[in-house]
Formats: sequence, C-alpha cells, structure tokens
Amino acid sequence: MADDLRLVDVQTEHLDDVLRVRSRSFGLLEAGRREEWKADAQAWIAGRRIVGVMDGDEVVASARYWPFEQWWSGRKVPMAGVAGVVVAPEYRGRGVGSMVMRGILARAVEHGYPLSALYPATTVIYRHLGYEFGGGRYRYTFPAADLRSLGGKEVSVRRAGPADAGRFLELAGQLHSSGRSNGPIVWPEAKVAEWLGEDNSFCYLAEDGFVVYGWQSGKLRVEELIAGSEATARALWAVVGSGSSISTDVDAYLSPDDPAHLLVPTEADKNALIERWMLRVLDAPAAISARGFAPGASLEVDLDLDDSELGANTGRWHLSVSDGSGSLTPSTSSGDALRLGSRGLTALYAGTPLPAVRKAGLAWGGAAADDGAIDTAFSGATSYMLDYF
Ligand SMILES: CC(C)(COP(=O)(O)OP(=O)(O)OC[C@H]1O[C@@H](n2cnc3c(N)ncnc32)[C@H](O)[C@@H]1OP(=O)(O)O)[C@@H](O)C(=O)NCCC(=O)NCCS
Repeated sequence: MADDLRLVDVQTEHLDDVLRVRSRSFGLLEAGRREEWKADAQAWIAGRRIVGVMDGDEVVASARYWPFEQWWSGRKVPMAGVAGVVVAPEYRGRGVGSMVMRGILARAVEHGYPLSALYPATTVIYRHLGYEFGGGRYRYTFPAADLRSLGGKEVSVRRAGPADAGRFLELAGQLHSSGRSNGPIVWPEAKVAEWLGEDNSFCYLAEDGFVVYGWQSGKLRVEELIAGSEATARALWAVVGSGSSISTDVDAYLSPDDPAHLLVPTEADKNALIERWMLRVLDAPAAISARGFAPGASLEVDLDLDDSELGANTGRWHLSVSDGSGSLTPSTSSGDALRLGSRGLTALYAGTPLPAVRKAGLAWGGAAADDGAIDTAFSGATSYMLDYF
C-alpha cells in the first residue's frame, strides 16, 4: 500500500470524488437520485458518518453508515448500518477496502454504537473484520387473487402519507416489541416520511396497521405490512390483492414467521429470495445489556472473548441473563470457559445455535452441557430485515 494514503472525514468538496468511485463500483445514479444522494450526504457529513481514503488530494475510497436502531428480542439496539463501501478500481486488492472499513468501524465505536450491520457484496473482507451472517431479507410471492379474497371488509382503511410517519413508527414499534422481533431496523423519522411521500409508495393506514406497497417491474410489491390483529391483516393484504386484475402475483418482503404465511390459502412460491446481511458486535457489554433475551431464560456463564480488531471486547467476561435482560461484566475466574472470536459472538448474538457455531470453528472450549441454556437465552424469532440499505 502507498505510504501517503490517509483516512479522512469526507467533506462536501470530496463528494464528486466519492460519486465517481461510487459510479465505477455500483453503476451510474440517475439524475434525480444524484440529488437525493447529495442531500443525504450532507447529513452523513454533519454526523461524521462518512469516511474516505485519500491519495494526495483525491478521495479513492469511501464508506459511511446510517444511524439505525435494530430490534433484538423486542428491544431496540443502536446499530450502525454500513453502506457505500467503495474503492476506486485501480486501488483495489491492496488493503484499501480494509483501511476504509476500519475507519468507519472506529467512527461507529467512537459514536457509541454497540452493533453494526451491512449487506455484503462479498463476505471475505467483512469476515476478516469480525462480521458474520446475522439474518436474511426474505421476499415471497403470493397469488394476488389469494390476497384479494382475504376479506377484512369491516376494517376501515384510509390512504396515508408522509404526515403519518410517526404513526407508522409507533405501530412498527408495538409490533416488534410485543412480537420480540429480531433484526428489523428503524430508520430516522425524516427518512420514513420521505419514503411514504414517494410517487411509488402506496400507503394505507388502519387503526392498528399499515401497508406500504408499489410497482416493481410490472408487479405489485409490498415493502412493509404491519397488522396488530387478524382482521387488519386480512384487510390490508386484500387492499394489495385488489390489484389482481393487473398484477397476477404480489411480491412481499416479510418475516419467515409472519402470520401472512398462516392466513393466505396457498403456500407462497417456494422460490423465496433471500439476501443475507452481516452483523458485528462492536461493544460486547453494551450490545448484551441493550438487547432483550428469551423470557424465562436464566443463565450464569463465563465467556472468553478474543476480538483482534476491537481489543476492548477481549478478555474474560461473566454473562448473566434473567427476566428477559442480560449483562456482561469482567470476570476474574480461571479455568475453562466458552471461547468466542468476534464472528462467533456475533453469530450467537443473532441466534445461531451454538452447535453450528462450534462446528464452523467459531466457538470452542467451555462445557458443552451449558450450550442448551446459552442457546435458549439467545433464541427467538428468526432474524430478518425488510429494508435494503
Ligand atoms: C469490495 C471492495 C470494497 C474491496 O476493496 P479492496 O480494497 O480490494 O479490499 P482489500 O484489498 O482490503 O481486501 C480485503 C480482503 O477481501 C478480499 N476481497 C476483496 N474483494 C474481493 C472480492 N471481490 N471477492 C473475494 N474476496 C475479495 C481480499 O482478497 C482480501 O482478503 P485476503 O486478505 O484474505 O486476500 C472493492 O473491490 C470494491 O469497491 N468493489 C466494488 C463495490 C463493492 O462491491 N463494494 C462492497 C459493497 S458491500
């Protein structure tokens, strides 16, 4: 790597460089989306959430993160959603991508984020830095006629828009906290309002539910459907299904555990699309105390953590779980304990059963007899996200 490469906070005057590298990485942004990108970039700059690698006076790589929260067992944990990781083609393959990722990780740690997540275009670079698969984004396809026939005609539904962003977030929060969801992300309210105001966002609101859908490649596609009751679920799905004369099928981003799978008469197309996202525990004690745990689970166990990237996580810890809450405190005990690197800890955090984590070589030592109790504490609904970022 050249010696004069240096990490910087990206500023407004660097944005043309970042866009040029971005175009060579992901393709050109359409004219309208360019303006939106530049407007978003002002918020990334103001929040010091975008970093770059400079060679001389030119930015040759960049990465940024969104200030999300993520639901883990019914509680919201601050999460840095890393995106826009790009390296100029002529600088690839010599550690620049890793350098810019280390920069954005350091920034997320400095800003107090216990977790980070991203959608990987390639996993190798992120695994080297301690990320591991945390869950999936699932897209199912239902026959529109099946949705149309779900009923719910007694439920009143009205057209909604950007002014309903607060209500949308409130309803989503109720659903994810009572359903002890794992994985869904919470966008800042201003971005939710922007999304609800898009021409291709058709939004409908019921007393205890919300649907946002639109057209994608000549087909209707549900981006998000929240329903607090069976009647509302039927009514909102039927609104989407009312388009069956034009859209034979409806694609829908959904949790694999969503009640729609139990309500719709026929099984969703077996070829569900799954895009996997990766997670990283940045601050182990903060990540453990912020999330929920399975109600009724009780656990007292020591862990040996070894995090070669974020050394503050390394050491012997005591994990205690009771009444749906957990804590991780330094331990002075000696003897054998369950040993995990960052990828193993992250996989466990995301609900991967310990036998699988052990067989992948990401956990070892400790008493295998404790594995069941540890798994019970971290277990719950399948982790998923609805949004790509
Ligand atoms: C992916 C990208 C950011 C990697 O940048 P880079 O500077 O080449 O990465 P590094 O040199 O730091 O590589 C780090 C590790 O990842 C591996 N790696 C990088 N790109 C890879 C690829 N496309 N496929 C497989 N492994 C890859 C490297 O081999 C290296 O692993 P190693 O040390 O075991 O050999 C860069 O190729 C890029 O900008 N691609 C286009 C945009 C993109 O895909 N961004 C990622 C979006 S999630």
